[in-house]
Amino acid sequence: MSIFKEIETKRLIIRRFREEDWKDIYEYLSDEKVVYYEPYEAFTVQESKEEAISRAGSEEFIAVCLKETGKVIGNFYFGKREYDTYELGYVFNSSYWHKGYATESAKAFMNFVFKELKVRRIIAMCNPENELSWKLLERLNLIREGYLRKNIYFKINANNEPIWQDTYEYGILRESYYSK
Ligand SMILES: CC(C)(COP(=O)(O)OP(=O)(O)OC[C@H]1O[C@@H](n2cnc3c(N)ncnc32)[C@H](O)[C@@H]1OP(=O)(O)O)[C@@H](O)C(=O)NCCC(=O)NCCS
Repeated sequence: MSIFKEIETKRLIIRRFREEDWKDIYEYLSDEKVVYYEPYEAFTVQESKEEAISRAGSEEFIAVCLKETGKVIGNFYFGKREYDTYELGYVFNSSYWHKGYATESAKAFMNFVFKELKVRRIIAMCNPENELSWKLLERLNLIREGYLRKNIYFKINANNEPIWQDTYEYGILRESYYSK
């Protein structure tokens, strides 16, 4: 049985993925701008079909859909770590950026996981250059807890060398979430 229940906000529905979501997944994950800071390359049609099947069977990926049309415009990743800690990730279709959809859905999602799943701590990582990402985290009241220098790479350069990047670490505790 799934731990995740459908969530409704003013403009959005947050739900489990379905296999038929592959076209919407392809629309945003094939976009170079969207995957620029992600640890993977732009998706093909075939990869999107496989990803939709995999996500439909996963508790870790959650779809964010427009209430009006049902279109999937983005997703959360919510991965369990040690000590009742979960890592939050998010990727949205670039045609739907700057409209407050990520904030609206993430607020509702965080409310659900703190209340229903009794999560103790949520963390998130991002490249300091990804300003849209850390601004979103700060709108959600996550605190910048760490700045790791050249700790990771996702891509290599023409000489086959790692392109090292820095990482901001963000976190929020259940107790500080409820003291706001
Ligand atoms: C990270 C990401 C989800 C942020 O998207 P976003 O569009 O900036 O975030 P929101 O949907 O919450 O929109 C917020 C903006 O919409 C504006 N906005 C417009 N209409 C709004 C409304 N009705 N309600 C609330 N905000 C609204 C806000 O003012 C804000 O603008 P600002 O940043 O200039 O202050 C998006 O850039 C993305 O998917 N990036 C690619 C994947 C990625 O890098 N993921 C993170 C990896 S660590």
